[in-house]
Amino acid sequence: MRKTSPIRIAPSILSADFAKLGTEVVAIDKAGADYIHIDVMDGHFVPNLTFGAPVVKSLRKCSRKPFDVHLMITPVDPLIGDFVAAGADIITAHVEAGPHLHRTLQTIKAAGVKAGVSLNPHTPISSIQHVMDMVDLILIMTVNPGFGGQSFIPLLDKIADARKMIKAEGRQIDLQVDGGITPETAPKVIAAGADVLVAGTAVFKDGPEKYADNIKALRGK
Ligand code: DX5
Ligand code: ZN
Repeated sequence: MRKTSPIRIAPSILSADFAKLGTEVVAIDKAGADYIHIDVMDGHFVPNLTFGAPVVKSLRKCSRKPFDVHLMITPVDPLIGDFVAAGADIITAHVEAGPHLHRTLQTIKAAGVKAGVSLNPHTPISSIQHVMDMVDLILIMTVNPGFGGQSFIPLLDKIADARKMIKAEGRQIDLQVDGGITPETAPKVIAAGADVLVAGTAVFKDGPEKYADNIKALRGK
């Protein structure tokens, strides 16, 4: 039987101090982040704006950890190449972002990076049933995307269903959760089957000297 993957923590730099983003990425890298989670928002698919590929390219100098780029944009396909060229290791697109998810995943895979698919809270897990063979990561949103600091939506059955689908697929697919992850909610999502936890507020609170403790608290040990 396949060994269970260790829990990985992906700090979301949405909660970092944007005036010193490079320093913040260096700090979370040193503090034990497994992935660097980069929330790209377009003010259209979600009601907020963040950063584009040039910012990702500049940050690439600050860490060798996998850059986990969460695209909350539509259309997605025209910008995939820019994010790959900027240094993304994983690109996650939303099921809801367009009518051609299969093509989007093909485009990400063809660009040579890992392909993730994200589901908003209302989107059923069955919506990715027919693309399971193409995905390296499933991202279950536990808030409505767009902002950090929102309350966790307890979609534990959905996470458990995603874990069952991954088991049936029989290969390594990350099961990521994003939104409202804290030391209180982390054990619940881990018990439901998540193995990559995205956290913004819970990692960046109380300043850089606390980042390592904050990350440790999310691992649940
Ligand atoms: C929301 C983003 C999240 C967000 C999480 O659209 O995808 O990554 O930064 O923030 P917290 O951990 O504060 O809920
Ligand atoms: Zn995110």
